[in-house]
Amino acid sequence: MRKIIIDTDPGQDDAVAILFALASPELEVMGITTVAGNVPLELTTKNARIVCELAKRPDVQIYAGCDRPMGRTLVTAEHVHGETGLNGVIHTDPTMPVQDAHAVDFLIETLRSTDGVTLCPLGPLTNIGTALQKAPDIARRIDEIVLMGGGYFEGGNITPAAEFNIYVDPEAADIVMRSGVKVTLAPLDLTHKMLTSAEWIAAMRALNTDVGDAVAGWTDFFERFDVAKYGSAGAPLHDPCVIAHLVDPTLFSGRLCNVEIELNSDLTRGMTVADWWGVTDRPKNATFLRDGDRTRFFTLLSTRLATL
Ligand code: RIB
Ligand code: CA
Repeated sequence: MRKIIIDTDPGQDDAVAILFALASPELEVMGITTVAGNVPLELTTKNARIVCELAKRPDVQIYAGCDRPMGRTLVTAEHVHGETGLNGVIHTDPTMPVQDAHAVDFLIETLRSTDGVTLCPLGPLTNIGTALQKAPDIARRIDEIVLMGGGYFEGGNITPAAEFNIYVDPEAADIVMRSGVKVTLAPLDLTHKMLTSAEWIAAMRALNTDVGDAVAGWTDFFERFDVAKYGSAGAPLHDPCVIAHLVDPTLFSGRLCNVEIELNSDLTRGMTVADWWGVTDRPKNATFLRDGDRTRFFTLLSTRLATL
């Protein structure tokens, strides 16, 4: 089993990713750390509890993290995810606990004491960047960081140049990209090809399970924004791409190249500048995933969700 920590800002797509991970026997979810992003920290933490209870996993250790970016004012995305962050389904309040330790301290202590941990950030990288800044020694302890974030050929989704997770906390993303840790990005270039469909949502409803109904309701809500914006039929399931890559690395393809983060320009703040064509001699610090097999992705995801 691959040991992972999911760092997340649920968010409907985060929620599907968490369910996917909890339904995958290849993965040991050592903990879930929450961060401010799609909605404020209080709600992302409540939503992580809702999702774990939906998966009948109240045993999962959830740690609340940073409530604002390292050096910027928090930008949230209720326009995409709704005011609860999990709009599309009415959820009862969760009862499972949140752990006392701060997410950053959990990350540091776990990485210092456990070998072979993969970090799976699905939101702004504030917790990860803060942990690396507070305890630089953990960088060599991290097996890999597989994150949803960025975009290059595809452009951005919160500005013309930047993807939301990187835009919200570009300084944290810069720390991650310069950390020397093995990094794999699931950017918009990939996730915009992993679009849901009416048929897939119907198949979720046909499961006749609480999980299937929730995934269908979330996706129906989440989809309206992308369909209106891109005219595409279906919503990109961004965050589940991270889990899918861990479960089956043959699903997606990309290239090891240099990726750097724009910090200084207001126009292009948070842009992930990917040297895909190798026109510089900058260090190749990340694998930038760009293509994938949509059919196999959704088949794997559906199969795993059906087990919950
Ligand atoms: O840009 C998409 C990303 O931003 C996803 O992780 C989504 O959940 C939001 O956090
Ligand atoms: Ca997210």
